[in-house]
Amino acid sequence: FAEFGSVPTKLKKEAGKTLDDLKKEAENKIQALKERLETNTAREDFFDYSLPGLTPNVGHLHPITQSLNRVISIFREIGFGIEFGPEVETDYYNFSALNFADNHPARDMQDTFFIDDNILLRTHTSPIQIRTMLKQKPPIRILAPGRVYRNEAINPRSHCVFHQVEGLYVDENVTFSELKTTLEVFAKRFFGNDVKIRFRPSFFPFTEPSAEVDVSCFICGGKGCRLCKHTGWLEILGCGMVHPNVLKNVGIDPEKYTGYAFGMGIDRTALLKYGINDIRLY
Ligand code: PHE
Repeated sequence: FAEFGSVPTKLKKEAGKTLDDLKKEAENKIQALKERLETNTAREDFFDYSLPGLTPNVGHLHPITQSLNRVISIFREIGFGIEFGPEVETDYYNFSALNFADNHPARDMQDTFFIDDNILLRTHTSPIQIRTMLKQKPPIRILAPGRVYRNEAINPRSHCVFHQVEGLYVDENVTFSELKTTLEVFAKRFFGNDVKIRFRPSFFPFTEPSAEVDVSCFICGGKGCRLCKHTGWLEILGCGMVHPNVLKNVGIDPEKYTGYAFGMGIDRTALLKYGINDIRLY
């Protein structure tokens, strides 16, 4: 139609008729298709199989599960297996075997949910260290995730039920510098390549020396914000070299073997990571 003007005069008549015929034919086709469409959809049994389906609402993994899975997959890549232990424990696995003195304040009723004198809800995942070392011979390289219980006041930042991941590596010549490197690699993988970590001296009855590890605040990049209480650092875990007494308690020769262990809190990390403002929402 656009070029009709440039058609030589003597051909105009013929070209015009052809164009006209084509136009009519096209219009008839469109009309026929329209009618077919309308009568088809009006049929009761008409179903358009090409329509996209309704996506079933299957929910998603809990933020704690997602965080745990990420921690596990990072350590799995560097050769750690997985172990589990019971949430209802005996005093022996939760305390005595971990070198807690009989009068250690952590055994106090205020922290521990005792079921009777001897049975309690585990206060940390460290008893899985003992259970694992009793049934495996070094080299031992395991991660142990799980729920732990402490009789603490419930508020937006803490709960009496929370989650930890325990790590344990026992072999000949395991050193503190290996612990540092491993945790640094982990922190960068988990929080991002820009984070720094720092080790602060600390105390746990079952490790010597012991340290607490902070990661530079991944919210403000270490400048200081409300979340890191303007320190630029967030505490993520406790760690240290397995105490010789602990190795003795499970029949591993501390003259031959050394090991490191760490215990990481998951709940607060997941709060920050997923921007959840109240731990009770878990
Ligand atoms: N169990 C300790 C806690 O709950 C953390 C920890 C684990 C420290 C392993 C050192 C080694 O605080």
